[in-house]
This record gives sequence, C-alpha cells and structure tokens, in this order.
Amino acid sequence: MTKPKAAVFASGTGSNFEAMMTCENLACEIVLLVCDKPGASVIEKAECFGVQTFVLNPKDFDSKGDYEANVLQSVLDAGVEWIFLAGYMRLVGPTILHTYEEKILNIHPSLLPAFPGKDAINQAYLAGVHQTGVTVHYIDEGMDTGPIIAQEQVEILPGDTIEALKDRIQKVEHMLYPEVINSVVMEWLKA
Ligand code: GRF
Repeated sequence: MTKPKAAVFASGTGSNFEAMMTCENLACEIVLLVCDKPGASVIEKAECFGVQTFVLNPKDFDSKGDYEANVLQSVLDAGVEWIFLAGYMRLVGPTILHTYEEKILNIHPSLLPAFPGKDAINQAYLAGVHQTGVTVHYIDEGMDTGPIIAQEQVEILPGDTIEALKDRIQKVEHMLYPEVINSVVMEWLKA
C-alpha cells in the first residue's frame, strides 16, 4: 500500500527529521522539508536523504499571510497529507492550519503545559524541577497549546548538566515522535 505523504517543517539541526528518515517502518513517506532558516543544518540532512527542500526566508514576504500562502502551495504541490513540526520556530497561521486541520503534529521538549515556548529544556533545568520530558501534540493557533497525544517523562538527576539532560531528552524524542506518528497515521488509515 502507498504510504501517505508528509512534510517536515524545521528551522534547526534536524535530529528529529533524521530520526523519522531512519525509522525503518514510518507510516508516512517524508517527501518535503520546509525550512524557514536558510543555512540551517536540517537542509543538508534532507539533501543527503534525497528529500525535496523548500527553503524560504519569512523576511522576503510582505506579510505572514503571503509567507504561509507560499508554504501552503509547496505542501499541496507535493501531495502532502500530514505535516510534522520538528523544531519549527514559528507559529503556524490560519492559512495552513485550516487546510491541514488535525493533520499537523509538533514535538516539544517538556511535559506540556509546563514550560511552553523557547528554551523549554533550560526553563525546566533552571526551575529546579525533578522531572521534565517530551510531548507530542496536535497544534492549534497557540504556542504549544494543542491537544496532547503522548508524553514521556525524563528525570532531572542530581548533578545533571544541561547538555546531559538535553541529550537524554533528544534520545526520547527520537523514539517517541516516530512511534506517535505511526499510531496516529495508522488510526487515520483505518478510519
Ligand atoms: C527539539 O527538541 C524539539 O522538541 C523542539 O525543537 C528541537 C528540535 O531539534 N521543538 P532538532 O532540530 O530536531 O534536532
């Protein structure tokens, strides 16, 4: 059976993108990377995997609506049915959100609703909590506020460094995101 096509939206390193690409049994075919940061490492990763890239700088557009219209056209042209945000550092606006209702997932490095927004790992570390984690959720118009699908806890250990904590969180992300993608997409295929 042909797998549904998906796009990854990312702005940075792309370790989650890589985890999806190297997952042996991902339920989607990743056909497109959308990146809003020219020069980001994720672009090179996508090229290595032979995934089409659409790189654009929001500053080159008159408005967020114009920027999003271009992004939307690229995902529609690529036949994309699912969108996975992986370190995409901007809010998705109504143009894309309404076209892909309940078809856009995000991964966030905290146990939402705790520590939304930027630097979530740092926020948790500095807050002195003993547990943080990873959340995969549907997006809505808010900042890390959409319905939660799955969470996994990560302990903050005595004497932990921020680097060690980030490393453990990312390991969890790389397992959890493909797993959640698979369960959500399989459910949708069965429906
Ligand atoms: C991840 O920690 C993800 O949870 C957050 O941004 C980071 C992206 O990392 N939204 P990478 O670019 O996938 O390595």
